[in-house]
Amino acid sequence: MKTNNNLSKIAFPMIRHFNIEAMKYDNIIKLTIGEPHFAPPKDIQNAAIFAIENNDYKYVLSEGRVDTKKSILNYVKKYFNQHYGMDEIMITVGSTEALSSTLAALLNPDDEVIIPTPAYTGYSPLVTLNNSVSIFMDTSIDDFQIRYNNLKKHITSKTRCLILNYPNNPTGVSLDSQSIEDIKKILKEHDIYVILDEIYNRIMIDDFKSIVDPSVKDKIIIINGLSKSHSLTGWRIGYVLASREIIQSIMKVHQYVVVAVNTITQYAATEIDCDISERINYYKKNVEYAYNRLIKMGLNVVKPNGTYYIFPEVPYHSEKLFYDLLEKEKVAVIPGTCFGDFENHIRISCAIDYDSLKEALDRMERVIKLK
Ligand SMILES: Cc1ncc(COP(=O)(O)O)c(C=O)c1O
Repeated sequence: MKTNNNLSKIAFPMIRHFNIEAMKYDNIIKLTIGEPHFAPPKDIQNAAIFAIENNDYKYVLSEGRVDTKKSILNYVKKYFNQHYGMDEIMITVGSTEALSSTLAALLNPDDEVIIPTPAYTGYSPLVTLNNSVSIFMDTSIDDFQIRYNNLKKHITSKTRCLILNYPNNPTGVSLDSQSIEDIKKILKEHDIYVILDEIYNRIMIDDFKSIVDPSVKDKIIIINGLSKSHSLTGWRIGYVLASREIIQSIMKVHQYVVVAVNTITQYAATEIDCDISERINYYKKNVEYAYNRLIKMGLNVVKPNGTYYIFPEVPYHSEKLFYDLLEKEKVAVIPGTCFGDFENHIRISCAIDYDSLKEALDRMERVIKLK
């Protein structure tokens, strides 16, 4: 069978492999899942029900419903101080489609895309599918921050863009003021774009700091969505914010690939500013608890500032630890190798009820002590 040659360069995500391994065991506590354990907020659910009862079943504008766009624009202004107009936003099928349509709109063959690591596994395959090249940049030397010298070293005449994900999956780290200044400096020096994947920026421990400022706004493309903050992982809704010109280009891809996001989910997203404080506080407490426990176990860990992940260094190869934890204590985590060359780290997801998290960390402590 002859198919796209790029497919042979793309493997199934390693996270999937480890999840399947974990499913072979009964009654395990899974600290693997990157999705909230809360149901979607009631206001969101009611808006979706209203959409069905309102008989609004026809094709919708490719860029998204007017009400949905307005609600999201007010929301990003209120919570992230991001100011965009009605022609600077497009509603997408999750942040994943926001990213894939953006990359298809930006990239030419052999362009380079800088991906700081550890990195979410979804980026590099999309770069490959666009006949472009992923350039990985290890950030562990700078406590997972983006520093000028490191970033500068990775830029060539072929660099088209970089993809930044802060707060970060898997480290939970968000950009400090120095990183923000350094990135802006690079953007002013080079003709490149930055794609900001801000999918976790409501799930913060301290306040979220945005890179966007008028001096570099034209080079910034923000992708985001309601999957993580509003528990809508399965409903598939996200958005992209950028200059009018960039949005027009991304829309050329989007309208042929998906036409538009389904109407029901778009109605639901008009309630984006509903109260989600309880779940945010819950995850914040979980992450702080996990951090303190890991420190007490004697592990090295950079303190997370957002998301529900934490990425400690572990005493031996994380894939071996993965099986030890499963076999001896029925706890599943994700080995650091899934996010780059991080064999001595594991990712723990705290998107779970507190009692299970506590129990899982008790069990993990026993395995680590045995070592
Ligand atoms: C960093 C990051 N970006 C994007 C996504 C995909 O999100 P969505 O459901 O909006 O497509 C995930 C999901 O785990 C993620 O961790």
